[in-house]
Parts: sequence; structure tokens; C-alpha cells
Amino acid sequence: MKTLIKTGAPYIAGTLAIAVSMAMLQGCESTSAKSEEGFKGTLSAVSQTAVAANASSTGNAPLAPLPANPPIPADNKQTDAKVELGKLLFFDPRLGGDASISCASCHDPSQGWAWAEDFSRGYPGTVHWRNSQSIMNSGYYPGSFWANSVPSLEAQAPSAAKGGVAGNGENDIMTARLALIPEYKKRFNEVFGDDSPRIKNAWRAIASFERTINQHDTPIDKYLNGNKGALSEEQVRGKALFEGKAGCIQCHNGALASNMEFYNIGVPPAKRWEEDGLAQITFRFELYAKGSNEELYRTAKADPGAYFRGKNKWDKGKFRTPSLRYTMYTAPYMHNGAFYTLEEVVDFYNAGGFDEDGRTTGWPKTKSEKIKPLGLNDDEKADLVAFIESFSGDEILMDKPELPEYAPLFTLEELKEAKK
Ligand code: HEC
Ligand code: HEC
Repeated sequence: MKTLIKTGAPYIAGTLAIAVSMAMLQGCESTSAKSEEGFKGTLSAVSQTAVAANASSTGNAPLAPLPANPPIPADNKQTDAKVELGKLLFFDPRLGGDASISCASCHDPSQGWAWAEDFSRGYPGTVHWRNSQSIMNSGYYPGSFWANSVPSLEAQAPSAAKGGVAGNGENDIMTARLALIPEYKKRFNEVFGDDSPRIKNAWRAIASFERTINQHDTPIDKYLNGNKGALSEEQVRGKALFEGKAGCIQCHNGALASNMEFYNIGVPPAKRWEEDGLAQITFRFELYAKGSNEELYRTAKADPGAYFRGKNKWDKGKFRTPSLRYTMYTAPYMHNGAFYTLEEVVDFYNAGGFDEDGRTTGWPKTKSEKIKPLGLNDDEKADLVAFIESFSGDEILMDKPELPEYAPLFTLEELKEAKK
């Protein structure tokens, strides 16, 4: 497997490099020093040696605390007014096709800022073909989606609002709706100087709002920052397994507990495709929309994932390593929601990438060699689950804000007046 960036120090790779570049963007001190401290200071001597050996042979970054703020792009600075506008727009279904579905519909704060079914709900009349990702901490990611297909939150928002099975909106109608809402006219003018709201600025405001939905004070952050009491004994044992025997650190590392690389870990195809016609239709629609050749379109029985980025057969069935942060609230798991609990996920890894019925990936040729039976006993599995939970702090909830109303362009009186 390739590593994002190789440097002299064996463990400075992948996500840590991202953390460093984020720190540079923020203009603050490099976070790498802090991470290294966490790395050295928090492990028992035995597991420290194990991790160091592992790190030097594989180039794994250590786990690291999340910086307090995500990087802010130079051309979309955060302001309170912009974030407030972005919040309204995130919850506003008028940024969508039939004005019934907003970002928050599929990224519901009370469902982990995601959607708590295997496949996400879709645009009315459809189901989505993938599990909804949480937008928690999405500002820290170098790219969006299970296949990382979009480079920024500013670019992600329109693809969500316009995507056929997501928002299914049209620019001109969404722009017209915003123009008919006086409160938005006022706010877009104040924030962006727009005479009339420009749709591009709606996406920028939403991205700014998303950058405020973060969690960086979890038990693991506290622990890595030196508070040894922040993890239970069970979690400390789970951490040693995570970094040692269970090998999770090979991919779930750095500040996000993800190296942002792509792997086929053996997740079996969605059972729902066999039972649910609508889900099957979306799957074929997406294969077609993403430019599959005819054979793939007709025969694929599993999601080709990262394949669509470069149409390389070795990418079939690969997905971005997800962050483990906030996963206490984001079940079900994996790109297709194959597992409903963290226990099931750990059982799956323990079996070497097979579910309880012995099913595995539909793309066996690309399955990662890093995934093999782990031989964990029940106590060890419980320790590992407890440790994964340390990547989540308290649940972050948010009520839907009151949305501004449309106003008619003119009143009946004005119309009568104009007709005279
Ligand atoms: C119909 C449901 C639906 C709607 C509406 C929707 N999303 Fe999503 N969102 C998803 C799904 C499903 C994914 C994962 C898709 C994939 O990887 O192919 C996703 C992924 C994302 C991601 C990527 C997170 C990551 O970890 O990379 C972000 C950010 C996001 N959505 C923000 C938004 C915003 C902003 C809006 C509104 C403009 C929105 N979404 C509307 C379902 C939806
Ligand atoms: C070879 C890299 C790799 C290793 C090793 C690995 N993972 Fe993963 N992990 C991934 C990828 C990739 C996914 C998403 C796969 C998909 O959706 O098809 C994932 C998904 C997950 C998820 C679901 C997250 C979500 O939001 O849906 C959890 C939880 C998880 N892994 C925990 C672990 C644990 C615990 C271990 C160690 C036993 C581990 N992983 C080992 C790459 C890895």
C-alpha cells in the first residue's frame, strides 16, 4: 500500500502530514511536536516498543489529538454572520429540488449528523446508494465522500444539493427561491456584498458552518494531551490492541484516526440490493452516472468505490478509511451500512474481513493483505470496542433554526396600482 508522504521520520506520514499542513494553514505552531509527545508519553513501555517497531516497518502515523480548529481556506474566511447564514441554509429544504429535503435531512444532528439507516434516505422517490457520512469534523478532511471524489466542502455542497439521489436541485430555481426571501437577500448582502443572493455563496456559507461542527475534546484527545485518567483501564488495554495485535493503527492513525488512504477491507455487498428494488435502481443509476462501461453496468454486484476516480481495476471495492471520531453516534457503519454495532465491526475484523454469515467483498482480487484473522478473545474484543468509544465525546445536538419566510414580490395593492 502506498503512503501519502514519506519522510525521514518513520511515523511522520499520511494523516500526520495533513495535521502539519493544517497547522501551517492556521499559522500556529506545528502540531507534529504535540503529536509526537502524545505518541511517546502515553504508551506503556511494552506497547511503545511494539508500536515503534510497527511504525518503522510500515510508516504509520501515531494517533494524535485533533487541533482545535480545522484549516480555513484563504478565500473563504470564517465570520460569525457567514456561519449563521450557513446554518440556516444547511437546514433549509428550499436548497433542493422539490423544497422538501435539506442537508440536515440526511445529516440530522440527532442521528450523528448522518442518517441512521444502512443506506441514506434519498431524494423523495429514491434511496441513496451509500451510507450517509457524518459531517462531524468534515472540515479537517482533505476531500469528501467515501471515495474522496470532491476536494473541498465548498465544492461538495453543490454536488450534494444537485445530485440526483440527494438534493436534486437546479441552480436557477434555488437562486430564485433565495431571491424571494427578504431575510436571505439582506444576509447575503451583508456577508458577501451580493445585490441578490448568488448560489455559489450559499455553498461557501454552508462550508463555513460545517467547519464549526467539530469535536476535539474526546477522552482520547484528553489522554493524548497528557490526562492519563481520561481513558478507563479497559480503554487503555484496547488502545494497546489497536496499536498492536489488532493492527488497526495501520490505517486508522493520525489526528482523525484515518490515513485517508483507500482499501478494500472485505465489506460484503449490501443485502438490501437483493431485497429492495429502489435501492437496486439507484445502484444502477449511479453506475451509469459515474461512467461505467456496459459490462460493469450490467454485472456489478458490489459498489466499485474508489474505482470511479481513475477507472483503475485495482481500485475496485476500495473506500476511504473513515475517521473513528464520533462513531458512537453514527451507526450503521461502512460505505453501505453493513454493520449496525461496533461489536459487529470488531467481529468482522477478527474474522479477517468476513461477516457472521461468512460473506466478504464482491471484489476479492483487491482485498487488502492487511486484513487477516486477528485471534482476539471476547475480553479483547470488548476492550477494543471500549477504546473506539474513546474517540467520541458528548453528543452534539442542534435544533433546527427558524427559517425565514418567502415574501411576495409585490402586494395585491401594488399590482392594482401598477395596472392603472
Ligand atoms: C439525500 C441525502 C443527502 C443529502 C440531501 C445531503 N447529503 Fe451529504 N451525504 C450523503 C451521503 C449518502 C454521503 C456519502 C456519499 C458518498 O460517499 O458517495 C454524504 C456525504 C457528505 C459529506 C462528506 C463527508 C465525508 O466524510 O467525506 C459532506 C461534507 C456532506 N455530505 C455534506 C452535505 C451538505 C452540505 C448537503 C446539503 C447541501 C448534503 N450533504 C446533502 C447524503 C446526503
Ligand atoms: C487496511 C486498512 C484498515 C485496517 C487495518 C483497519 N481498518 Fe477500519 N476501516 C478501513 C476502511 C477502508 C473502512 C471503510 C470500509 C468500507 O466502507 O468498505 C473502515 C471502517 C471502519 C469502521 C467503520 C467506520 C464508519 O464510520 O463507518 C470502524 C469502526 C473501523 N474501521 C474500525 C477498525 C478497527 C477496530 C480496526 C482494527 C481491528 C480496523 N478498523 C482496521 C480501513 C482499515
